[in-house]
Amino acid sequence: MSEQPKILIVDDKAENLFTLERVLRKLPVTIIQANSGAAALALALEHSFFVAIVDVQMPEMDGYELVELLRGNETTAILPVIFVSAIFSDEYHHRKGYDAGAVDFLSKPFVPEILLSKVRVFLDLYRQRQRLQEVVAQLNSVNVEVIALNETLERKVRERTAAMERAYDELALLDRSKSDFIEIISHELRTPLSLVVGYSEILLETPLIAGNERYRQQVQTIVNGADRISEIVASMLDIVRIDSRALKLDYQPLSLASLFAGQQQLLAKACHERNLTLTVDGLDVLPEIEADMGNLVKVFNNLLLNAIKYTPDGGAITVSGRYVPLDGVAQGFVEIIISDTGIGIDPTAHDLIFTTFFQVGPVAFHSSGKTKFKGGGPGLGLTVARGIVEAHGGKIWVESPGYDETTCPGSEFHVLLPLHPGLTKPAAVTQRALELVSVSTDDKG
Ligand SMILES: Nc1ncnc2c1ncn2[C@@H]1O[C@H](COP(=O)(O)OP(=O)(O)OP(=O)(O)O)[C@@H](O)[C@H]1O
Ligand SMILES: [Mg+2]
Repeated sequence: MSEQPKILIVDDKAENLFTLERVLRKLPVTIIQANSGAAALALALEHSFFVAIVDVQMPEMDGYELVELLRGNETTAILPVIFVSAIFSDEYHHRKGYDAGAVDFLSKPFVPEILLSKVRVFLDLYRQRQRLQEVVAQLNSVNVEVIALNETLERKVRERTAAMERAYDELALLDRSKSDFIEIISHELRTPLSLVVGYSEILLETPLIAGNERYRQQVQTIVNGADRISEIVASMLDIVRIDSRALKLDYQPLSLASLFAGQQQLLAKACHERNLTLTVDGLDVLPEIEADMGNLVKVFNNLLLNAIKYTPDGGAITVSGRYVPLDGVAQGFVEIIISDTGIGIDPTAHDLIFTTFFQVGPVAFHSSGKTKFKGGGPGLGLTVARGIVEAHGGKIWVESPGYDETTCPGSEFHVLLPLHPGLTKPAAVTQRALELVSVSTDDKG
């Protein structure tokens, strides 16, 4: 239980002390008496009082002197003092009392109720101050806890960051060794592959083979297979370069109409064999773009080969394009759309198909036929395409209602390319172009 608040009563006359004590006993306080100024001073230094009731007229040290001494000492300076005197009836004495440091007065003979109510005021003040001190103490301890918590959190964040940095370094190392591995294997494969292709082509020319259709076809299959391996090796090297941002682009003015005319020629035989129509529409009105010819051919060749592969015989592939002007950036963008009437792509795979080695169907039925219906590949084409398009500051995405081999809902591959990649590369501009494209697509309904 906490101690009761203490009150100091000071008077040289025992009967006065007695009267005071009798009245004050009604309050839940501990009363301590002093019969002289000197005794009061000693007690005030020893105890903490919430108020002192001091008689003004005392021999040796009177009330004024005592209060002056109390005010002069650091520990007693703020002790509230109520003066008791028979001569406080006039203003002069009140002023004198205030000047000496009293906070209230009581005239003798005092009315017990008045004494009690005056003392209660100081008692309340004392309790409120105590409560305030408790709250401050609590706040301080909470503050200490918060600081400790903060330090723990900061330490944890530092530890996590360090662990993440270590993991990142390890990953980067792993990634580098994976890239180095692919690079080395690719170069190692190139020499034997060119030997296979070279000697097979020589074989094709020899009369023995050229004169026998069965042998000729067999050697031709070797050549085709070796060509396919070369292409895969080239795609793997492209991906390593894209991943390590080492893809070098040589920008030249380029006409998309002539690029696609070339592709139409190149793929005419495959389309004919598969009874597919390949229509290119409205590209001749597009402005020229600055792009890396060799790499952009890879992008659109991949997209067209996919359209051929994933469209059943008799289907249609359409290439269209449009100019996307961008205000403030005079250069603008072009959007190329390759749509097919093929098996379509499930919406959950729309992003995944652009990641390395991802294929929608089972890998087991892979055939080497590049243009056969559903002829599987390693799943690198779209990864390479995305890497090249993004290196140009463009975007590539697919739109398709879903995958269904019976109804064939078809797919639409969109490629958004800046006219001048050097000028319009910032991602924010590409984003704005994308927004424009999707707004006008919606308009079309
Ligand atoms: N036009 C399309 N219609 C339906 N599915 C498609 C189409 N284009 C791509 N896909 C799906 O996306 C997957 C990934 O395509 P991607 O071109 O990256 O690989 P791939 O064609 O399987 O092999 P690669 O291109 O390396 O020879 C394909 O396996 C196919 O499942
Ligand atoms: Mg492909």
